[in-house]
Amino acid sequence: MIIKPKVRGFVCVTAHPEGCAAHVQEWIEHVQRHGKIPGGPRKVLVIGASTGYGLATRITAAFGSDAATLGIFYERPSEEGRPATPGWYNTIAFTTAARAAGLYAGNINGDAFSDEIKRQAIETIRRDLGPVDLVVYSLASPRRVHPRTSAVHRSVLKPIGNPYTNKTVDTDKGVVSTVTIEPASPQEIADTIAVMGGEDWEMWMHALADAKLLAPGAQSVAYSYIGPEVTWAVYRNGTIGMAKNDLERAAKNIDSLLKLNGGGRAFISVNKALVTQASSAIPVVPLYISILYKIMKAAGTHEGCIEQIRRLFATQMYAGHTPAFDESGRVRIDDWEMRPEIQEAVRAIWPRVTTENLAAETDIAGYRGEFLKLFGFGLTGVDYEADTEPHRPMM
Ligand code: NAI
Repeated sequence: MIIKPKVRGFVCVTAHPEGCAAHVQEWIEHVQRHGKIPGGPRKVLVIGASTGYGLATRITAAFGSDAATLGIFYERPSEEGRPATPGWYNTIAFTTAARAAGLYAGNINGDAFSDEIKRQAIETIRRDLGPVDLVVYSLASPRRVHPRTSAVHRSVLKPIGNPYTNKTVDTDKGVVSTVTIEPASPQEIADTIAVMGGEDWEMWMHALADAKLLAPGAQSVAYSYIGPEVTWAVYRNGTIGMAKNDLERAAKNIDSLLKLNGGGRAFISVNKALVTQASSAIPVVPLYISILYKIMKAAGTHEGCIEQIRRLFATQMYAGHTPAFDESGRVRIDDWEMRPEIQEAVRAIWPRVTTENLAAETDIAGYRGEFLKLFGFGLTGVDYEADTEPHRPMM
């Protein structure tokens, strides 16, 4: 089958197996080029391991410090004549490379919110790994079936209190327009907290603690975003921001749990805004990212997921470092994004961007290129005209 990108709004409904493998290989090579991270993790559970920040974390742990990894993710498998979602191919590529390097790599595809997947993970850790010293929580999901109540919660990306109007870009069509988003209802706020907040992370950590599968001194980290004021109404002060506040609440509880477990810790790392499947669904944010990329590339400080997480490991978590927490106890690996001169430059460009000057004023081309790469398209060295088998077994 010849697989071409089919973009529908903010998703691409196809993915290219060799392209995804080439993308994963680029990330592996980035970590290898920068050398080993002394004192890095040995046995790592990554929840949300197949794309974006979670995949970058898995690759950094494996190739930066020879860690054994168990990855949990929720991807649509391939079928005869139908490609899988990209995380499926990413995981196959990662697992092939890790095992070739002599590293343990285990995979569980299923709903991380469920008791069943937690049970499978615990069984696998007990059987294959023994207690883990790092648990990374990197889920981005639109829905959660609550394991106790069976209620279905759907997350929304909406402001709270008042409607919010701002510029946005249709990244596919290259059209800048004004969008108005109506405020969330109390139920929508509660649902978003149920999906993207910290309850499930706490459930994972308690399940691991009860099973005695947290190594003494084990750490846990979850990822969050703060960003600039221009996005606050829809992000930091919106429904997703409330969920992230709840994640911070959970971090404090989990931190207490881990402190009693041989002096470990749990914390939130605030990461940079990047093109991922999750972020492309948020109104306004893709326009901000397009401007940000232009400015950070010009400043020589642009990073992708893999650069971010390698820096997190090498300068905050391991290699003899301890996290430099901000006033709220968070690690700020978004520090380069939030530098005053970078944000000042974004603020200068924001009001003048139009459909006509989008290509000149922003890095929309870079955004689009990164977006397609998430699905395995546009990688050098991949023959996109060649016939390829979409149906690939998980390893
Ligand atoms: P992503 O969409 O690339 O990855 C999400 C991962 O979660 C995938 O591995 C997916 O398979 C998995 N997943 C989703 N639902 C699942 C379920 N029910 N069961 C098991 N696995 C499931 O997202 P991204 O952007 O890497 O986000 C990860 C975290 O990083 C999120 O907490 C997000 O808020 C945070 N973050 C993202 C930023 C960005 O700009 N992309 C910036 C800062 C933080």
